[in-house]
Amino acid sequence: MFALLLLCAFVSASHGARILGVFMTPSYSHQVVFQPIWKELSLRGHQVTVLTPNPLNDPTLTNLTEIDLSFCYKAWDNYSIATLGAKEHSSSEEIKKLSEAYLAVSEVQLSHPEVQDLLKNNSKYEFDLILVEFLWPVMYGFKDIFKCPMVGIASLPLTGTANEAIGNPNNPALEPEFTLPFSTNLSFKERVISTIFKVLFKVGAKVSLRPKMEKISQKHFGNIRRLEVIAQDVSLVLVNSNLALQNVKPLVPAHVELSGIHIKEPKPLPKDLKTFMDDAKEGVIFFSLGSNIKSELLPEEQVNKFMNVFSQLPYKVLWKFENENLPNKPNNVEIKKWLPQQDLLHHPNMKLFITQGGLQSLDEAIRSEVPILTIPFFADQRYNSHHLAQSGGSLSIDFHSFTEEEFKEKIVELISNPTYKKQITKLSKIASDQPMPALEKAVWWIEYVIRHDGAEHLKYPGVDMPFYQYFLLDVIAFMAGTVGLMFYILRRIFKHVVVTYKVFSKLVGPLSNSIRPEKSHAE
Ligand SMILES: *[C@@H]1O[C@H](CO)[C@@H](O)[C@H](O)[C@H]1NC(C)=O
Ligand SMILES: *[C@@H]1O[C@H](CO)[C@@H](O)[C@H](O)[C@H]1NC(C)=O
Ligand SMILES: *[C@@H]1O[C@H](CO)[C@@H](O)[C@H](O)[C@H]1NC(C)=O
Ligand SMILES: *[C@@H]1O[C@H](CO)[C@@H](O)[C@H](O)[C@H]1NC(C)=O
Repeated sequence: MFALLLLCAFVSASHGARILGVFMTPSYSHQVVFQPIWKELSLRGHQVTVLTPNPLNDPTLTNLTEIDLSFCYKAWDNYSIATLGAKEHSSSEEIKKLSEAYLAVSEVQLSHPEVQDLLKNNSKYEFDLILVEFLWPVMYGFKDIFKCPMVGIASLPLTGTANEAIGNPNNPALEPEFTLPFSTNLSFKERVISTIFKVLFKVGAKVSLRPKMEKISQKHFGNIRRLEVIAQDVSLVLVNSNLALQNVKPLVPAHVELSGIHIKEPKPLPKDLKTFMDDAKEGVIFFSLGSNIKSELLPEEQVNKFMNVFSQLPYKVLWKFENENLPNKPNNVEIKKWLPQQDLLHHPNMKLFITQGGLQSLDEAIRSEVPILTIPFFADQRYNSHHLAQSGGSLSIDFHSFTEEEFKEKIVELISNPTYKKQITKLSKIASDQPMPALEKAVWWIEYVIRHDGAEHLKYPGVDMPFYQYFLLDVIAFMAGTVGLMFYILRRIFKHVVVTYKVFSKLVGPLSNSIRPEKSHAE
């Protein structure tokens, strides 16, 4: 009883905090990770204000204020991120495009009248905590405006820069940037590419991207600290990842993994889909390229290849396809604009999931124990595909170069060879075996930061250390100098000895020469 009272007192200490959430990325697969967190915090009695392009608009959440930024999808679409994905392109082209889109989106979001009111009339508002999507540093400026602790949340594994900000290792041999098409077990060539990529990325960010970010930051937040410095001041980062999908690596305590926060309990299927699934005794293939890659962007040639292969298969195919109709659609293919992905994947007749390899989709298929064929397009999809294929749960094809034979062979292999299902089941158990549900963990850690007033005790001191101290350059220079000096002194002494000896032997030379024959005599 006493323990319970104590617990209540402890828990209520962090209750009723005023929290500002800044979740900028206009992509549902990002927002779906953040939504349950801001909703749950408001239900627990915190006063939550959120900037988001995907508001929940739930009037029963009386402690929640959402500033609707959905208009920024227009600015995002202006950069044709999805079209870029459907075309052949390089990793650097992609980063350039994404950076431009993020710059534009952060500019329009910060210019929005309600956000301007928050910024310009900031003395009217008070917050105890900032929650921020830990991806695009411009938005970290809110921390300096409201002068309170900041917790980061990431819907993807952290970028190299974000890892460095909290003190996680950022080793190119083990942690390639997630836009690269490899993940674990890097070959020599891949390690070279990974290293060059990291260095170029760092230099590129420093000379080109950072100044642009700082410009937006100065314009809207005024004279605050540099964004890089604010990033290092984050109390904690909650990261959507788990060991079924990411590499093992040493993590600082301020990096907390949330595994599968968007995973929901399966719900019954709508009647038509249920009948479709139940009747498909031969099995169903579910084909969806996510919310970014619209089917109408796909080149006709590739769409025809898909259809030709599907028509030769004994399985039914459910294809998430945005257009109303698909000319020459084979009889065993059913197209739908929208499908309840998680619930469908749970159906026992589901045999295979064909996906672009987004993290959330892969996580859902793994939890449902369905083998996977990936067709990666951009961002982290190639990395994810590679990682899952390495662990034996999936196969992959290249969208731009695949052949019908290859596509068909891989589908048949994934469905008929039981090792894939077995491996996915193993990964599913790894991903879901957690000490507490992800949402509870997220809220616990956020309230922990509030209870401990920013939890500065979690901060890794390596983060603030100058570069030369962190990499021991001063120590190495000192030791090298000392060793060099010692050699120098020894050499000088040796030279002296040699000179002295030479002088000495010149003086006593005749004498020692006259001794030698005697010595040899003695032998
Ligand atoms: C709003 O917060 C109060 C405490 O501040 C809490 O008692 C109430 O249940 C919350 N309401 C909702 C709908 O979450
Ligand atoms: C789209 O981009 C162009 C230039 O790239 C810019 O002039 C225009 O304002 C943008 N439109 C939106 C809605 O952001
Ligand atoms: C600041 O608040 C005042 C009074 O509420 C309002 O008239 C003004 O438009 C606000 N400023 C901004 C930039 O929104
Ligand atoms: C790593 O790659 C090498 C050769 O590419 C292979 O022999 C080895 O089995 C791989 N190791 C793991 C853990 O996948």
